[in-house]
Amino acid sequence: MLKLPGLIDPHVHLREPGATYKEDFDSGTSAALAGGFTVVLAMPNTKPPIFDSGTLDLALNAAKQKARCDYGQYLGAGPDNADWELKKSLPSRAAGLKMYLDSTFGELRLDDMTLWHPHFENWPKDMPLVAHAESRSMAAAILFASIYDRSLHIAHVSLKEEILLIKAAKENGLKVTCEVCPHHLFMTSSSPFGRGQGEGRKEVRPRLASQKDVDALWENLDVIDCFASDHAPHTIEEKDTDNPPPGFPGLETALPLFLTAMDNGRLTMDDIISKMFSNPKKIFNLPEQAETWVEVDENETYEIKAAEQFTRCDWTPFEGWQVKGKLRKVVLRGKTAFEDGKILVNAGYGRDVRG
Ligand code: DOR
Ligand code: ZN
Repeated sequence: MLKLPGLIDPHVHLREPGATYKEDFDSGTSAALAGGFTVVLAMPNTKPPIFDSGTLDLALNAAKQKARCDYGQYLGAGPDNADWELKKSLPSRAAGLKMYLDSTFGELRLDDMTLWHPHFENWPKDMPLVAHAESRSMAAAILFASIYDRSLHIAHVSLKEEILLIKAAKENGLKVTCEVCPHHLFMTSSSPFGRGQGEGRKEVRPRLASQKDVDALWENLDVIDCFASDHAPHTIEEKDTDNPPPGFPGLETALPLFLTAMDNGRLTMDDIISKMFSNPKKIFNLPEQAETWVEVDENETYEIKAAEQFTRCDWTPFEGWQVKGKLRKVVLRGKTAFEDGKILVNAGYGRDVRG
C-alpha cells in the first residue's frame, strides 16, 4: 500500500449553478474523492457565470451545502468587472481569477486585448491568476504577466510550441507556472476512442494534439508544475449530438493513469506528489489539511469503466483502459471519506479553502 497526501485538482468544472444535470457540487466532489482528490478548485463558466459577489455567493452557498471534499471557487474575468481594487474582500473569497482568452464552453471570453489590461493591473498580485490561452494568445498573456510583473498560471498546456514558450519564460525569470491534463499526455488527435464512442466524444478544448506535441510534454516534465484534470463533464447524450460540447470528465481517471505511467517508468512518485500536491498547494496558496491522506494499492490492475464512476455525465474517454494502481482509501481531516468504492462523508463535509 502506498500512502500519498490528499491530492489537489486546481481545474474542475462542477456545473453548479445552472447545469446540475451534468454535475453538481455533490456528484463532482464525490468523483473527486473517488479519484484521490481532497481539494478541487471550481471554474466559473457556469450559468450564470461566477463574476461578482452575488454569483460567487450562489456557488459558495451550493458548495457549502453539498461538497464532500474541500473546494475553492474561481471568479471569471468579464468585460466590465475588472475594478477588483474597489471590491476589497471579493478576490480573497475566490480560488483565483480565471481569464478565458480563447474560445471555449460558456460565455466568459475576453476577445479584445484592451479588456485584459485592467484585470492584469487590478487583480491582487498575491492572488492566483489563471489563463486559458492557447498558442499565440499564450505568448500575449505571458507578455502581459511580464509587463505587469505578476504571476500567471497557464491552464491545460497541450502543444510543443506552448511548453517550449513556458520553458523559455521561466528561464527568463518570469513568474509563469502551468498545468497539463491527462488527456493531453495520454492521447493524440488520432487516438482510437473506445468501443462505440462517436467523434463528438473527442471534442475538448484545447483539442487533442499530435504525437510530436505529446512527446514534447513528456520531454519537458520538469517544466510542468501541476497535473490538472480539467474535469469537464457533459452528458453522453450531449456528446453524441451533431453539436457536441467540448470537454472530458477526468477526476476519477487521473490518478490511476499517472500511477500506471509510474509503473511504466515514465514518472516517479515524486513527480506525482509535486504535480498533484506540493506545487498546486503553493501556487494556489492552499491551507494545510491536517490528518489527510490517500492510500493506493500500487499492484492492483483494473479496467476503467464509466459505470463505476460518481460523475453524473456517465461516460469517460478512457473507457476500457487497463490501469495499474487502485485507490483504496481517502482520509480527510481525520475521517475516512472514501473506502473501497464508497463515499463515507456527508454532503456539506467539505470546507471552503478560502473560508
Ligand atoms: O473542453 C473544454 N471544456 N474546455 C474548456 O475550456 C471548457 C470546458 C467546459 O467547461 O466544458
Ligand atoms: Zn477547463
